[in-house]
Amino acid sequence: MNKKLIFSGVQPTGEIHIGNYLGAISQFVDNQDNYESIYSIVDLHAITVWQDPKIIQSQIHHVLSVFIAAGLNYEKNIIFNQSSVPQHAELAWLLGCTARIGWLNRMTQFKDKAGKNRENASVGLYTYPVLMAADILLYKATHVPVGDDQKQHLELARDIAHKFNVDYEIDFFPLPEPVMNKNTRIMSLRDGTKKMSKSDTSSYSRILMTDNNDDIKTKIKKSKTDSMKMPSIDSALDERPEISNLLNIFSAASGESKEDVIKKFAEREISEFKSDLTDVLINLIEPMSSEIKRLIADKSFLNEVLKKGSDRAKSLSTVTISELHKLMGLKIL
Ligand code: AMP
Ligand code: TRP
Repeated sequence: MNKKLIFSGVQPTGEIHIGNYLGAISQFVDNQDNYESIYSIVDLHAITVWQDPKIIQSQIHHVLSVFIAAGLNYEKNIIFNQSSVPQHAELAWLLGCTARIGWLNRMTQFKDKAGKNRENASVGLYTYPVLMAADILLYKATHVPVGDDQKQHLELARDIAHKFNVDYEIDFFPLPEPVMNKNTRIMSLRDGTKKMSKSDTSSYSRILMTDNNDDIKTKIKKSKTDSMKMPSIDSALDERPEISNLLNIFSAASGESKEDVIKKFAEREISEFKSDLTDVLINLIEPMSSEIKRLIADKSFLNEVLKKGSDRAKSLSTVTISELHKLMGLKIL
């Protein structure tokens, strides 16, 4: 039996928004007392789409500051940036020989991100789910907290682990389980059918963990809605994706169930609901955003955390890689 171990990753590709926080990072914090945990700032994933070398370091520091400001214990947990542990890339190669092309061809995120010009997407963007499987399996992680957009990638990691175990006739990798919050696919504030995303061209589509109170107020005020009153039952939300999303955000940010939030605002004006939602978000974000700003200024502290984390991650991952070399008959000396 493997002991329970969490692994998760966040890409340093832009500013962290409440989708990342409510979908993933808050779960990292909630689970940290129950599991050993490893969190990676996955810079090798980020470069599957071109990143400016001049800003990637500060993006890494930004993600780390959000982790710490959100309450992740950087002494207990292992927190590091992926490229400082080269074993991730090595295991990605080994597992790339287990993963099947047909499996990768089914990945919807690749289809979405590559768009119509698929021939021109990077090979890295295509094989990205294999690197993600390697991230998890390198530590034999058993639980993976992620937003539900990553569910398919996690299923692929399980398929790869299973095929590897069958091919080498050994129970080597545990099959990692997703850990997901209910109702926390957070959608764009401008379009309730599109995921809130770091790369959306409209900054009004997302609320950042560094937004100040006025930013939050304006973004919620300008968020797309309709002209009806607030619904009194859940089924009335099928045709109202934007209101449904704002209710999900309210529920996730306040900790109240969605049913209770619906009851509380039933038949009231949307403007009243928006005003309360603004307060809930300010309560959540204000303390974190000031802590993020304080931490980001202390580069030597942040680098020290990353250095300690990568040393610990390296010593765990070299063990897995040597076991694999032996198992696969690769290393003679
Ligand atoms: P990324 O920014 O793509 O590295 O995502 C980091 C984590 O945030 C992953 O676990 C994602 O599943 C999660 N995430 C990203 N966007 C959203 C969203 N709009 N709603 C919920 N979770 C999200
Ligand atoms: N692919 C994830 C995302 O875009 C980030 C990620 C990389 C990840 N490796 C991981 C998440 C391993 C969980 C486990 O959000």
